Amino acid sequence: MTYTMDNKPYRPFGVAQDLLYSKSPEVLMEGPAGTGKTRALLEKANLCAIKYPGMRALLVRKTRESMTESVMVTLEQKVLPNGWPMLTGPSRRQRQCYRYPNGSVLVVAGMDRASRIMSTEYDMIFAFEARELTEDDWESLLTRLRNGVMPYQQAVADTNPDAPTHWLNQRAQRGQMTRLLSRHDDNPNVTTAYKERLDQLTGVRRDRLFKGIWSGQEGAVYDLWDPAVHVLEKHEIPEHYRRIRSIDFGYTNPFVCQWWAIDPDGRMILYRELYQSHGLVEDHAQTIAKHSAGESYEATITDHDAEGRATLERYGIQTMLAKKSLRSGIQAVTARLKKADDGKPRLMLMQNCLIQTDQRLIEQQKPTSTSQEFPGYVWHRGTDISESPVMVNDHGMDAMRYAVVYLDGLADNALDVRVLGQ
Ligand SMILES: Nc1ncnc2c1ncn2[C@@H]1O[C@H](COP(=O)(O)OP(=O)(O)O)[C@@H](O)[C@H]1O
Ligand SMILES: [Mg+2]
Repeated sequence: MTYTMDNKPYRPFGVAQDLLYSKSPEVLMEGPAGTGKTRALLEKANLCAIKYPGMRALLVRKTRESMTESVMVTLEQKVLPNGWPMLTGPSRRQRQCYRYPNGSVLVVAGMDRASRIMSTEYDMIFAFEARELTEDDWESLLTRLRNGVMPYQQAVADTNPDAPTHWLNQRAQRGQMTRLLSRHDDNPNVTTAYKERLDQLTGVRRDRLFKGIWSGQEGAVYDLWDPAVHVLEKHEIPEHYRRIRSIDFGYTNPFVCQWWAIDPDGRMILYRELYQSHGLVEDHAQTIAKHSAGESYEATITDHDAEGRATLERYGIQTMLAKKSLRSGIQAVTARLKKADDGKPRLMLMQNCLIQTDQRLIEQQKPTSTSQEFPGYVWHRGTDISESPVMVNDHGMDAMRYAVVYLDGLADNALDVRVLGQ
């Protein structure tokens, strides 16, 4: 049989182009509905199949069934070259793979038939609508990534955003996945009518499918948080700046001590941090004293733990009690996270300012510093009156609030905080 394979026209825009060149081992292609995410993944699969004879790629979704009417339609109609020899084979529903004349193959599967996937190895894995998968699914897929025909191996997930707490968002936040933000401008084929339909959606669905942001019932308490705005490069703090420390006690949960400097404009900068679980207050006190040598502090603010405070004081660390009103404290922090007239916020965190990283927290997949707590610090929405932040991984958040309330006092009008949190 003779045939010619003639590529269909495709021009990648925005991050679709970045994806083609990326060799990053794990990539998260995220964005609102209809930005061209799935098409970009399929184009890369096809190009690599042609370029690297004998390569194997896996195209996967949570269920095999869901592949048939979504991914496979785009693949067959938009991506596979004209004159494709195999489309006359089994029907789409039965099809298990697409074989190329050069020996490459795209395998089609669902996690509902994981044994089929797991019995073989691949150079690339493309997971579509990956928010449907569990992190266990993803990690078992990664173990299959060792076919070694291509010069690099890669797993790419495409997804619409989900809740901020979703494992994909957290995994990218931790730096384990390269995040590519796909936007409607990247798809020349998207119509105004389509975008208008998405714009009509409300609430969380509009956030995720129109705006493309990770948004949940349990929206982020500090939704202004943006590492590009609030994280500073490491630098020396001039000696004359005001300084305070704030402490949140913990044993099973991390014990947190934050060192804050206040610059002449009143901007507070976290310049050193102890974030450590399973340590005795005794030991923390020594660590704090050691790292504080040569500096002096206006105040050291702590939460209510009489014994813990007594221990600190034995090591020369005089403490004062934090004002604990949660809502107005959150409001005071929110005010500082906003950009001031000079374009900068009034609260910033220095990069790499941890004294040491707590390996146990890494193993438990928990935040290892205050900055890592932000994305998971979310509102728990019961009936609106009972709304409060969920009380997990909030130790750095608490210490930060004590420091802000010490400097600024409690914000008035605490009831308005719900509006700020949305
Ligand atoms: N660069 C492009 N050029 C032409 N059509 C595109 C391009 N990117 C996407 N499309 C088309 O837009 C439609 C939506 O793309 P799709 O990849 O399914 O979006 P998403 O997965 O982001 O929801 C598809 O028909 C796709 O073929
Ligand atoms: Mg898609």
